[in-house]
Amino acid sequence: MKTHEQWTSKLGFILAAAGSAIGLGAIWKFPYMAGTNGGAIFFLFFILLTIFVGAPILIAEFLIGRNSQKDAIRAYQKLAPGTKWHYIGGAGVIFSFILLSFYSVVGGWILSYLGRSITGSLSNANYGELFNEIIANPIEVVVCQFIFMIMTIMVVKGGVQKGIERASKYMMPALFLLFIILAIRSLTLEGAGAGIEFLLKPDFSALTAETILLALGQAFFTLSVGISVMVTYASYLSKSENIVKSAFSVAGLNILICFLAGIVIFPAVFALGFEPGQGPGLVFVVLPAVFNEMAFGSVFLFIFLVLLLFATLTSAFSILEIVVAVLVKDEKEKRGKLAWISGLLIFLVGVPSALSFGVFSEVQLFGKSIFDAADFLVSNIGLPLGALFISLFVGYRLPRNLVKEELSMGTNGLGIFYDIWYFSIRFVVPIAIAVVFLQSIGLL
Ligand code: PFF
Repeated sequence: MKTHEQWTSKLGFILAAAGSAIGLGAIWKFPYMAGTNGGAIFFLFFILLTIFVGAPILIAEFLIGRNSQKDAIRAYQKLAPGTKWHYIGGAGVIFSFILLSFYSVVGGWILSYLGRSITGSLSNANYGELFNEIIANPIEVVVCQFIFMIMTIMVVKGGVQKGIERASKYMMPALFLLFIILAIRSLTLEGAGAGIEFLLKPDFSALTAETILLALGQAFFTLSVGISVMVTYASYLSKSENIVKSAFSVAGLNILICFLAGIVIFPAVFALGFEPGQGPGLVFVVLPAVFNEMAFGSVFLFIFLVLLLFATLTSAFSILEIVVAVLVKDEKEKRGKLAWISGLLIFLVGVPSALSFGVFSEVQLFGKSIFDAADFLVSNIGLPLGALFISLFVGYRLPRNLVKEELSMGTNGLGIFYDIWYFSIRFVVPIAIAVVFLQSIGLL
């Protein structure tokens, strides 16, 4: 009898991995990070770092997961018994916990918007004011965050095959299609050109070490790498799949969605007179305004919010899954209970983040709001450091023949590509992460 579940098809794995990757990172976070960090220069570094640092790490996580067929902690224990390497997975679980605690807050905002789009109160509103009003309302944000977590728990408790995979198949292509329609609308607004320039014409004089660190954090965030979430997903992957191809498909799709999000948001920002550097509200303020300019805008807005909710949920599933997989071990009968317990705990930990735009807006951690501090801790410390140790683990700890054999499965041989990747994972990736990280905290 099989003790470890598997994805039912090749497409199933790619969709689930892409579902984890594509979410708020590309659609909500990317536009506002680009908006506050110089636009095109941020985008350029984001692309370079996704291809040359993020994708090699994604391959490494897939390799660890598929080879071991274990969860985030036991994978490292199995591959390096009696060592401390499994702390990488332990740290990953803790960071996942914090990540989902604030990710679910934004998931809740989407639910608020969705509710309003049904009642019709989203057409012709002052979107800036509306957004500030929603995120400052303590009851609304906490209730919506709670509902979002319940939805996440309900799917994750059913297991990866039934829940995650089936749900991803239709929604992802639909999201893509709607983005294309939106991009056309946004690009044909009068004055859209300034937005395209903002997104695509880099101004190198705006480049700082912090921009590069934030772009690196963004690349890891959108790819879901650094905290062993992808180790967990790949543990359900069969030996006949090509890991390298899967990783590049996920990375490519991700860049594409970020690009589409940017091409929808920025032309509209400039055409409709919004401020690109306004922060986390950007998408929530600009998108409803774009829909307002469209025929049947409120219907499209509703569909868009459903799809955005979906993209957010498929990422949330993966984050809760790593925690649950570690707790469940092989005792499958406990899965439901453990999903509830961990999901509800994550919700509780996230409540202060949810309130940090209203009741707790005065509370500061390291000079940031609670929400921003949690995000910074995960995106710009947890993910890069996790990725650094994963590259060292694969590059120096795992036997060379194991690495090569695992990566070559499901391929006709990788040729020179393998050597380039192996060199990157041993030298380029760790050095790049270390330099960017030390620079940004002022130690270099
Ligand atoms: N990649 C997700 C997004 O871009 O929304 C967020 C995420 C999921 C980050 C899982 C990290 C992770 F392990």
